[in-house]
Amino acid sequence: MREAKESRRFAGRVNGLRPSAVREMLKATESPRITSFAGGLPAADLFPVADLAAICQTILADDATGALQYTVTEGFLPLRQWVCRHVEATGGIRCAPEEVLITTGSQQALDLAARTFLDPGDVVVAQDPSYVGALQVFAAYETRTVGVSSDSEGMCPDALRHVVLNSKEPPKLLYLVTNFQNPTGLTTSARRRRELADIAAEFDVLVLEDDPYGRLRYSGADLSPLVTVAERSNCIYLGTSSKILAPGLRVAWMVVPDTTTFSKLVAAKQTADLHTAGFTQRIVARYCDSSEGFERHLSALVAAYRQRRDTMHAAMNACFPEECNWSLPDGGLFFWVKIPQGLDATTLLKTAIAKDVAFVPGAAFCVSTAISNAMRLNFSNASPTRIEEGIARLGTVLKEALYEINRR
Ligand SMILES: Cc1ncc(COP(=O)(O)O)c(C=O)c1O
Repeated sequence: MREAKESRRFAGRVNGLRPSAVREMLKATESPRITSFAGGLPAADLFPVADLAAICQTILADDATGALQYTVTEGFLPLRQWVCRHVEATGGIRCAPEEVLITTGSQQALDLAARTFLDPGDVVVAQDPSYVGALQVFAAYETRTVGVSSDSEGMCPDALRHVVLNSKEPPKLLYLVTNFQNPTGLTTSARRRRELADIAAEFDVLVLEDDPYGRLRYSGADLSPLVTVAERSNCIYLGTSSKILAPGLRVAWMVVPDTTTFSKLVAAKQTADLHTAGFTQRIVARYCDSSEGFERHLSALVAAYRQRRDTMHAAMNACFPEECNWSLPDGGLFFWVKIPQGLDATTLLKTAIAKDVAFVPGAAFCVSTAISNAMRLNFSNASPTRIEEGIARLGTVLKEALYEINRR
């Protein structure tokens, strides 16, 4: 392959993009020898393969043209109708199918939102740390993302107000993952949701609430999404089938209460991919609408992930140095572990990979404040036995590194 040397060949927005050093390092962790707590992958052994195979057969027998032909950008109507029932039953969001846009994963919804609302130089406000995939999208549109600190209840309203008041340009977008956030596992409390929604309304900042993990709750009670507590036209809510069914289907949804905004997003999606695959939309619609099968699958998933979360929690308590700390997430896929000051998680990752265990250093998710002494651990994608073995090995890596810095 020849390399293009002149940067004039590339658009300005890609000249600044570099493959992440951590991602390069993590390529090594694809080997089956390695226990990887790095990716945010759902458990492949829990995909409902037999049910999906039967559904594919039925769709091709009953509705091959619909499944295989070009189709409308907004999405498959029975799926949009199911989304309305689903978001109302689970989050109290009342919406009509005309307010639901089906997207090719929530990642595309983030891209469409950036394409539709953000010009170069615009300010986006996000939790610090935040989901890397969203940060990459905002960077690709040459915006400036400002991180706002959180405490145990979620993003701090005073810190948000400070950023809004001191920003040269008023922020255009507030990006929030309110349930079991990626990477921290933190859930935004009910009180905080109201306070953040009020600030967004006061300063006319659009709220983009990204909720891929809401249905993966292992303890505590469900909380209302911002769209139900705030001025509706000021909020967009994102959901996805990736973590509750299978990410390979690439089927997700945006709830967009404002009609003008909805039509702009549809136009943006037309330029991106015309429409999300009609075949996979039908698979999700049929599977999720067979409420018995879907709810049974979800209960089994929640039970298995709760066990994996508890196994990792117990193993860390047993094997990690006492200077490490973390809190038990009520749901989702991740632990966020603070390791002692003086230890650098990116350096530790190299040692960990040599001992056949991997994680993502916290630095990868930082927005405005650099954090070198934290790591994100995924618990959904390894069996309880592998979790115990991997955490024991990681505990040894941490203890040896701590011994070294204490000796100096
Ligand atoms: C917070 C968050 N948003 C969006 C996504 C992307 O999800 P999808 O598979 O629906 O594109 C992820 C994936 O890990 C995520 O963690």
